Amino acid sequence: MKKVINYAHRGASAVCPENTMAAFVKSLELGATGIETDVQMTKDGHLVLIHDEAINRTTNGSGYVKDMTFEQLSVLDAGSWFGESFEGERIPTLEELLRLLHQRDTILNIELKNGIFMYPGMEERVIDLVRKYEMSDQVVFSSFNHYSLAFCKSIAPEIRTGILYMEGLFRPWDYAATLGADALHAYHYAVLPEFVLEATEHGKEYCPFTVNEPERMKLLIEAGVSGIITDYPERLAELLSTKGE
Ligand code: G3P
Ligand code: MG
Repeated sequence: MKKVINYAHRGASAVCPENTMAAFVKSLELGATGIETDVQMTKDGHLVLIHDEAINRTTNGSGYVKDMTFEQLSVLDAGSWFGESFEGERIPTLEELLRLLHQRDTILNIELKNGIFMYPGMEERVIDLVRKYEMSDQVVFSSFNHYSLAFCKSIAPEIRTGILYMEGLFRPWDYAATLGADALHAYHYAVLPEFVLEATEHGKEYCPFTVNEPERMKLLIEAGVSGIITDYPERLAELLSTKGE
């Protein structure tokens, strides 16, 4: 049986400020075998890791990533909002995370956050960087913007893609095939065991998000998902070790 990938959602986001180097490093200590992160692009074309389009919630600044230069973003504090001990954490670049992971076997799930703002040219920049670090087989692209995923597949067929969706997609394995996607990154309540079985028969994998309850993790593992995205990689690591996976 293939190992279930334990993806830390935005790093170890339950115990560290999300999408910071502290959160990524901590997730590896907690047993994550994969990391999920969100990428956006600055006004001057730098790839940065942050979930929201605006910087207000997770930094001491305000405004949109797309309107700021990297220099402006790089001085912001991205840790204090979560806890005093994280003061001084910065918004990381995608390149920093690639440097951390490229000599490990951790899988990196790069969510392209280009659903609201399209960030023209972002896909090419992300792909160039992944290729520069020779990490094409260690990376999966995910996005709620399926046009973007289809485009990525057309210019970088060697990199896996997973469609993100919330609910009720009819025969998502067939739909995924229309855009050349490899996996279904579905909101976990949209995943039933019989769907996983049928997707597998059609050569597509499921990787549900964001699964924090051990009972739910267990059900999905038994259904045959290939990965789980969680805020608590330590819970999933424990479950997988007791199951001998
Ligand atoms: O990849 C799953 C998950 O990250 C998608 O939603 O909003 O947490 O980025 P969000
Ligand atoms: Mg995400």
